This record gives sequence, C-alpha cells and structure tokens, in this order.
Amino acid sequence: MDSKSSSFLFLALFALFSSTSMAFNITRILSSYPDFSTFNNLLTQTGLAQQINSRQTITILAVSNDAVGSLSGKPLDLTKRILGAHVVLDYYDQTKLKNLEKKSSILTTLYQTTGIADNQQGFLNITKTPNGIMFGSAVKGAPLTASLEGSVVSQPYNISVLKVSRVIEAPGIDNIAPSPPPGAPEKAPAPAPTKAKSPAPVAEEPVADNAPIEAPTEAPTPADAPEANAPISSPPEPNSTPADDATAPAVPPSQESVSSRMHAGGIVAVIGLVACMGF
Ligand SMILES: *[C@@H]1O[C@H](CO)[C@@H](O)[C@H](O)[C@H]1NC(C)=O
Ligand SMILES: *[C@@H]1O[C@H](CO)[C@@H](O)[C@H](O)[C@H]1NC(C)=O
Ligand SMILES: *[C@@H]1O[C@H](CO)[C@@H](O)[C@H](O)[C@H]1NC(C)=O
Repeated sequence: MDSKSSSFLFLALFALFSSTSMAFNITRILSSYPDFSTFNNLLTQTGLAQQINSRQTITILAVSNDAVGSLSGKPLDLTKRILGAHVVLDYYDQTKLKNLEKKSSILTTLYQTTGIADNQQGFLNITKTPNGIMFGSAVKGAPLTASLEGSVVSQPYNISVLKVSRVIEAPGIDNIAPSPPPGAPEKAPAPAPTKAKSPAPVAEEPVADNAPIEAPTEAPTPADAPEANAPISSPPEPNSTPADDATAPAVPPSQESVSSRMHAGGIVAVIGLVACMGF
C-alpha cells in the first residue's frame, strides 16, 4: 500500500459519500405549498420523505388538504402503504404525460419495492380518457379514481410533483396479512449499533482496505445502500477481524489529516497482509 492505493481509497470513499447525498428535499419543496401541508406531514411521519429524498428520479402524486381526509384516522403503517403507492419510480411531468403514446400504462411505485405488495398493488394504472388523465390502482378491476389536476413542481428529470384529485387506495391494501409488531414497521432496519454511526467514519477507521470501506454503507438509508455498495465492496479478506480495528486508535485521532492517517492505515494493512502471508 503506497500513496497510489491511498488515493484510490480516498476517491472510492469520496464517490461513496457523494452518491448518497440528497438530490432534493421533498419536505422543503412541499413546504412552499400550504395546500399540501397535510400530505407533506404524512410523508414525514411515515418516513416516506426520507425514502423519496434518497431517489434521483421520482414523481409524487400529491393530494391537497381538502382531499386527503380519507386517510385521517388510519394507522400509520397503512397510511405509509397507501402513500407509498403515490410515489412513482420515474420522472413524469405534464409534458411527458401528454406525450405518452399508449392510451394506458402501468407505473411502478415505491410501495412495490417494499416486497409486501400483493397482486398489482404496487403499481398504478395511468390512462388517457376524454376527460383527461386518470390514475388508479393497477389491481385488476380497480377503478380509475383520481384525475390529474396539474403540476405542482417539476425539476426535470429528477423530481416532479403532480396534483391528483383523490387518494388512490389499492383494493386489499388495508388488509395485509401478518401485521408486524407495533413500533417495528415504521423504523428503518436499524444499522448495527457500531461505529457506522460515527459522524466521521473516514477519520476513525483508517486501517484495513476491506473493513472500513464497508462501514459507511450502513449509515445511509436502506434504499441507497445497495447502489452505494456495489462499485467498491470487495470480499473481505480472511484476516479482516476486529483486531485490525484495534490497532487504529493508536494514531491520535484529532491531530493528523485524513490522508496521512490513510498512509498510516496503509502501512498497518501491509504489515497485516505480510503477517497473514506467513512471514
Ligand atoms: C438527477 O438525476 C440524475 C440521474 O437520473 C443524476 O445524475 C443527477 O445528479 C440528478 N440531479 C440532481 C440535482 O441530483
Ligand atoms: C428537509 O427540509 C426540512 C424543512 O426545511 C428540514 O426540516 C429537514 O431537516 C430537511 N431534511 C434534510 C435531510 O436535510
Ligand atoms: C387500466 O385501467 C383501465 C380501466 O380499468 C383498463 O381498461 C386498462 O386495460 C388498464 N390498463 C392496463 C395497462 O392494464
């Protein structure tokens, strides 16, 4: 390990962190539109806002305060399922919708990614009708209940917020079988309570090539992790044990620059590798 490998490691970490940064903040975007304050609050309460922010290409079918009432009094997990089906995993603004070639199409929603959607509940049916563009659940036989009322925000080709006339409720979505224990479903799967939560994983874990690279991937939202992980995660070497980490704090954590610590880390890693090779 020399300066070349160190800078590669640095670049890899840099790419990792920039790939997990937010493209937008749906909470902030909607806060300029008081008509959607209830919808906006529900996105935050259900944790959907965070999932939306972790995407780069998305369309939200927003329901204004006077039409969102059908959700009031529903349990939060049900509200989350229903609203998750209002988040389309593609960019559609009004122009793109008008230019749809097919009379009718099927759109994939965030709810589909949860793996709990039944039947076609995780998909929407969008259909051009003489009265305009209509949305409904893609579940067979479900009615097209919500009409497109206009565009709220569009930032091509990342996020579009469209106003629809009603909440779209997929048949059977209120009846998902084994109900998870209270409290559990709304929380993102907790990352292991380790140093992954540390605010500065780069500085804290300079040692092995293998171990520290994977650590930061636990911090971002679950939706992001697979993407961020893909390009650089390499199978850990057999000698990658917590013992590697134990050597790290020997370097005073506050004094040195990140890059010099990476050099130190590289040296330790080389020593470890040599030791492992049986010298
Ligand atoms: C918009 O999305 C593209 C990928 O579709 C991404 O490369 C780009 O960084 C995003 N723009 C912003 C401002 O995040
Ligand atoms: C998004 O914006 C809201 C409102 O401005 C703010 O409270 C929240 O902290 C922001 N979220 C992130 C992750 O920056
Ligand atoms: C969408 O719904 C309409 C009305 O129920 C139906 O006629 C159409 O076949 C559906 N479109 C698709 C692609 O399934």
